[in-house]
Amino acid sequence: MVAPDRIRLIDQLTFFGRMTAGHKNMNIKQVDDNGKLLHLATITGLPPAVVQRLFNRATQYLQGERQRLLLGRLVVLVFYESSTRTRCAFDISAKQLGADVVSLDQINMAGDTKKESLEDTIRNVAAMGASGIVLRHGQNNSSAMAIRVAPEGIGIINGGDGCYAHPTQALTDAFTLCQHFGGGDNLVNKKVAIVGDVLHSRVARSNFALLRLLGVEDICLIGPPKLCPPNLAEEFKGTRIYHDIDEGLRGVDVVMLLRVQFERFDKATETYLIDINDLEIADNYHRLYGLTAARLQQLGEHAVVLHPGPINRGMEVTDEVADGGQSLILQQVANGMAIRYAVLSDILAS
Ligand code: NCD
Repeated sequence: MVAPDRIRLIDQLTFFGRMTAGHKNMNIKQVDDNGKLLHLATITGLPPAVVQRLFNRATQYLQGERQRLLLGRLVVLVFYESSTRTRCAFDISAKQLGADVVSLDQINMAGDTKKESLEDTIRNVAAMGASGIVLRHGQNNSSAMAIRVAPEGIGIINGGDGCYAHPTQALTDAFTLCQHFGGGDNLVNKKVAIVGDVLHSRVARSNFALLRLLGVEDICLIGPPKLCPPNLAEEFKGTRIYHDIDEGLRGVDVVMLLRVQFERFDKATETYLIDINDLEIADNYHRLYGLTAARLQQLGEHAVVLHPGPINRGMEVTDEVADGGQSLILQQVANGMAIRYAVLSDILAS
């Protein structure tokens, strides 16, 4: 077997040893003294009672609850990065709550072409009467930045910032696991592997934080050396890292796959753009780190597979596994609406 650090993907990544700045918490107040959620920027520091409340509300949503709690309120989706599931789920659930929804993306915002800052964008959207802003941005900690400039009373919800945090995805994933295993008590003893491009993944960071908060002890990371953060021990405290997937997956109950985030590789130089369609890269990654039916079979029929999407099929995972009976991927998508309904109503309903 070719050593992981010798494959071409890894060689090219030598040029991209960065993306680790800004992973520190910016000390923002997400929850007030009565336990009410004011904003949601990160999982870090979230009281377990708030998570439980959100899960309860999400469960009620799945049982058919649709309360028009945000009637007459304006929710603006400010998405500087592309999104299918997150944006759509926020849009749908905000409308189900009765809110008016406006959706901005990089095409129709002045940020890209006219260089308007994120701060000014937030101030302007707030001036138009938004009660809530869902923000997706390429910069780490951009939600905390938005919270700092937003007038009091406006709720900021992180829809994914840089490589730093994606709290509603983590809530969706943990909720899906609780649902699958029949409650959080049955989740704590499970062994979880987070597999793939950990370096660039806000999903990995938020999922790790939330699983720990819920009491899951046995979490390991699996990925190519150059796609693991250099300060891993500090960022993912108490976890083990494997560069050999077959070794890392031993005894695992939950496999959380991560997308290889090609678009984040070339940020600094814009020179070494890796082509996702390059078969050699895809094949090498797949051979070394892809979840195949054979690998899943080793774990047994009880093991489950998650992926936040979008999936690079044939790379991180085979069609057979992604579409198979042990995949919870579409269940994650469906639950994503329930979680966004819960988060929006918790923060914005009076
Ligand atoms: C993730 C994201 O954007 O961070 N997707 C999502 O929100 N469902 C993961 C990814 O893009 O790889």
